[in-house]
Amino acid sequence: MSNKTLVILKPDCIQRGLTGEITARFEKKWFKLVASKMEVLSEEILKEHYAHIADKPFFPGLVSYLRSSPVIIQIRECTWIVPMVRQMIWVTNAAEAAPGTIRWDFALSIWANIIHASENEQEAGEEIVRFFWEGKSFDYKRCDEGLIYW
Ligand code: CMP
Repeated sequence: MSNKTLVILKPDCIQRGLTGEITARFEKKWFKLVASKMEVLSEEILKEHYAHIADKPFFPGLVSYLRSSPVIIQIRECTWIVPMVRQMIWVTNAAEAAPGTIRWDFALSIWANIIHASENEQEAGEEIVRFFWEGKSFDYKRCDEGLIYW
């Protein structure tokens, strides 16, 4: 079972200055940050990442939006991390998101939806390798690590 997932803070998150708000939610929940970088995503990596929707009419617009500013890409680690981050984010369309979730609280539309997170463990494994060289992340201890009850 994978205890790591990949999240991407999308351009609307960066441009609206919400990086701290979203990151704080993960930190408070004890989703450990084990890798992080900021970059403008290439068309090539977006075509690979979104290959399953590359034939959709909205795809060119989606690529433009995702390249309209840098994004922040992180690997987060915790027991049950993949489903728990998905629960925090909720569904694609902000209008259908549950109150209190990231997309309900901050997203404005179906496409400008603040954040991406791996949908399942297989996807998490593939995405981590896609965005981080050899899937490399950091191994360190948080100061409160011994105090956590799983
Ligand atoms: P995400 O779930 O991270 O991955 C696919 C992305 O495509 C999704 O977020 C939205 O940003 C975008 N998307 C999905 N459906 C639509 C749609 N109908 N119109 C525009 N963008 C969409």
